[in-house]
Amino acid sequence: MFFFFYALLLSISCFPSIAVNENFLQCLSVQSSQTILPVYTPINTSFSSVLETSAKNLRFLTPTTPKPRLIITPLEESHVKAAVLCCRQHGLQMRVRSGGHDYEGLSYVSHVPFVIVDLINFRSVNVDIEGGTAWVEAGVTVGEAYYRIAQKNPTLAIPAALCPTVGVGGQFSGGGYGSLMRKYGLAGDNIVDARLVNAKGEILNRESMGEDLFWAIRGGGGGSFGVILSWKIKLVPVPATVTGFTVARTLEQNATSLIHKWQSFAAKVHEDLFMRVIISKASGNSKQTILALFQTMFLGGTDRLLSIMKQSFPELGLKPEECTEMTWLQSVAYVANLPMTNGSVDVLLDRNQPSKNKFKAKSDYVTEAIPETGLVGIWERFFEVESPVMIFTPYGGKMDEFSESAIPFPHRAGTMYKIQHLVTWTGGVAESRKHRDWISKLYSYMTPYVSKSPRAAYVNYRDLDLGETKANMNNTESYLRAKVWGAKYFKKNFDRLVQVKTKFDPENFFRHEQSIPVLPS
Ligand SMILES: Cc1cc2nc3c(=O)[nH]c(=O)nc-3n(C[C@H](O)[C@H](O)[C@H](O)COP(=O)(O)OP(=O)(O)OC[C@H]3O[C@@H](n4cnc5c(N)ncnc54)[C@H](O)[C@@H]3O)c2cc1C
Ligand SMILES: *[C@@H]1O[C@H](CO)[C@@H](O)[C@H](O)[C@H]1NC(C)=O
Ligand SMILES: *[C@@H]1O[C@H](CO)[C@@H](O)[C@H](O)[C@H]1NC(C)=O
Ligand SMILES: *[C@@H]1O[C@H](CO)[C@@H](O)[C@H](O)[C@H]1NC(C)=O
Ligand SMILES: *[C@@H]1O[C@H](CO)[C@@H](O)[C@H](O)[C@H]1NC(C)=O
Repeated sequence: MFFFFYALLLSISCFPSIAVNENFLQCLSVQSSQTILPVYTPINTSFSSVLETSAKNLRFLTPTTPKPRLIITPLEESHVKAAVLCCRQHGLQMRVRSGGHDYEGLSYVSHVPFVIVDLINFRSVNVDIEGGTAWVEAGVTVGEAYYRIAQKNPTLAIPAALCPTVGVGGQFSGGGYGSLMRKYGLAGDNIVDARLVNAKGEILNRESMGEDLFWAIRGGGGGSFGVILSWKIKLVPVPATVTGFTVARTLEQNATSLIHKWQSFAAKVHEDLFMRVIISKASGNSKQTILALFQTMFLGGTDRLLSIMKQSFPELGLKPEECTEMTWLQSVAYVANLPMTNGSVDVLLDRNQPSKNKFKAKSDYVTEAIPETGLVGIWERFFEVESPVMIFTPYGGKMDEFSESAIPFPHRAGTMYKIQHLVTWTGGVAESRKHRDWISKLYSYMTPYVSKSPRAAYVNYRDLDLGETKANMNNTESYLRAKVWGAKYFKKNFDRLVQVKTKFDPENFFRHEQSIPVLPS
């Protein structure tokens, strides 16, 4: 009985993939240079840990989630080139992974035979203080990048994500926002050069790829145009001392009217002030309530912050003792709510912080204040599940100064704030369904309060509910599907992205469920 099962398993799952692997491995060894390219086959004892370590959504780490035929962890640029050429030659889909934060797991899950190219070893940060730029390799996390830059000069930074473990490979490809966005814009707004491997296996930089492709990769979303090897990004000045505060208010402490008021100034206030609102349920009390955290990073000292707060948001009643002065680098850990032992920020180098869960998220943009009655309706829905979260992130400031077509990211002047809707859970299929239904209903409820025609969304918060293309679809069908979510993520920039895609990857080698489609002929 046991033997029969074993043989059956082998015949359905092992032999075909071994056949692919051997030819494929041979191709890799021919194509790659002298140094050995690390390849993990499913029988390698490290396969699971290599697959799982960088994957950030436990929703896609279940036994039934499709697994890659191989995981390749290139050590140098020529290895990436070899991987592209061999995947093409062997008809294998390639998924590129940098930090593994994709909301829909697209960097490590596919429903056709696939290979993961994981850039975990692409980790150098080369800071040029005089030139005012840094070359950052794709597998670097933003926490690592901030850390390496601050080591050279603590008053220099790059505008990138709030969450330190996010990879620059994926994040900068979709725009990339963080606490410096109101002062300096997105990561994508500050990129001045890049190195990429295209579908032909050529290694290109800004000059050799040309301005169209260079435009597309700074916000058009990861996984559509090539494999980013590294980015060159401008360094921006930050003060030696910044100030943080996190003030919590429950419904009983006027959370609803405070959030309502927040909407009126957060995108208009001085660009040194970044104040987001994290809304969740308060736990531990017998009576359920909503908790609003007003979480702030201010590019200056306590005194100036207090005077701005007194003018713009006296209702919060911020007290001097609620403010903490720190370095900009410390503020990264502070905003991410990571522990700093004795002020040490070494936690920013830890790729495994914070812990993982199963989650589903969606995004919205708000252009007109939501009335208090609208907010109250959200709270009612929050009481239906265990761990609901909404995050309101203010726009304005420098974000308004870029035209909608400067880079593919189009959410500029007129945007007050972005909402992230998020729900996490533990448990299996039934719990997954319940929570996904819940967030869909919340999303429907929000319709009257958020942007329209299109109802905009942030590409780095990938959401396959907005539509997806499947491997067996022809170009016409893919294009028609993609237009729907394409308009939400990119507005009018979608058309130009399609043109660039058609020119540089006409065979649609770099593809996934929401990659930019080629123009049907
Ligand atoms: C906990 C958490 C916090 C977040 N916080 C922020 C935030 O503060 N600000 C923000 O803007 N976003 C944030 N995000 C979203 C994040 O920017 C995106 O998920 C981003 O795509 C992640 O990049 P990655 O390299 O970590 O992910 P990956 O999963 O590795 O990649 C994401 C996508 O890009 C592709 N890709 C990856 N590397 C490359 C490459 N080298 N070349 C080409 N394509 C590539 C992948 O194939 C995939 O399609 C957060 C996400 C999570 C899970
Ligand atoms: C697993 O793969 C890695 C990378 O190719 C290799 O160094 C290692 O020896 C392999 N381990 C086993 C047990 O085969
Ligand atoms: C809530 O707001 C009311 C009216 O503005 C005010 O009188 C009251 O003190 C506030 N409560 C708290 C806890 O701030
Ligand atoms: C923190 O600093 C104090 C005083 O210098 C020292 O006694 C303590 O061991 C430090 N803690 C850690 C975890 O480094
Ligand atoms: C593409 O697929 C659609 C749906 O299956 C079909 O109606 C259409 O005729 C196909 N178009 C081409 C050009 O093959």
